[in-house]
Amino acid sequence: MAESDTVFAGSIPRFYDTLMVPLIFQAYASNMAELVAESSPVSVLEMAAGSGVVARALAPKLSVGARYVVTDLNQPMLEYAASRQGADARIEWRQADALDLPFEDAAFDVVCCQFGVMFFLNRFAGYAEARRLLRAGGRFVFSVWDRIEENVFADDVTNAVATVFPHDPPRFLARTPHGYYDIDLIREELSRAGFADIKITTREDVSRAPSARHAAIAYCQGTPLRNEIEARDATQLQLATDRATAAIASRRGEGPVAGKIQAHVIVAAG
Ligand SMILES: C[S@@+](CC[C@H](N)C(=O)[O-])C[C@H]1O[C@@H](n2cnc3c(N)ncnc32)[C@H](O)[C@@H]1O
Repeated sequence: MAESDTVFAGSIPRFYDTLMVPLIFQAYASNMAELVAESSPVSVLEMAAGSGVVARALAPKLSVGARYVVTDLNQPMLEYAASRQGADARIEWRQADALDLPFEDAAFDVVCCQFGVMFFLNRFAGYAEARRLLRAGGRFVFSVWDRIEENVFADDVTNAVATVFPHDPPRFLARTPHGYYDIDLIREELSRAGFADIKITTREDVSRAPSARHAAIAYCQGTPLRNEIEARDATQLQLATDRATAAIASRRGEGPVAGKIQAHVIVAAG
């Protein structure tokens, strides 16, 4: 993984939350909130919470006496999330690396993480942390994207941006968010971390944007793909976004656009 893959800072949090979240994260966040809440947990830890889409869906489902600790590696993402949440004494916002969390063993009923584990430099360490933090009978609920070919806008954008840098194409989307989809590998890594009961569900959904340009800006400017483009040549960010817009529009039309997205949702316990 490139170092820039985990940097969600600068203008990324705002573009991420206003464009990426409605495009691909919102639908899965509603499902994750339901999955987490179904066991009526009184203590929940969220890893890699980003701009807070799961927190906004989950907090209303938790009991008045619940404790909900929301963490992320990048303070700018967490600040953005907290600013959108509104006052809630049950929520503690904490900047923390999911691979080394500052909490006692067995402190939580549920640990959750939406589309975050792909960014962990050492997934085993992240899974071991989740297991250490769960009380007996607790659940680790998380999600990962399926391969990029099953997620059509990400694929269109990656191919289009490659035409701007043909000798060194930015591969962030394929490498990281869409680079960890092998169910057997996920099972194996969870088992090594001590989880015995592992359920994996593949969920297809539809991604919608008001226009091809909305989707292109979301991917090119609201994710670390932006870091990768700017590291090659910052003056090409607009051209890269234009090419991505044209690629999406040519396949999905000039007006509102829709495309398939697909992810694996995992519940691990034991
Ligand atoms: C694709 S975003 C997902 C954010 C959020 N869960 C959502 O569904 O919108 C990935 C997030 O992982 C965070 N992240 C990356 N590496 C991390 C780590 N080692 N520990 C905690 N968070 C991390 C990033 O800061 C970013 O907010």
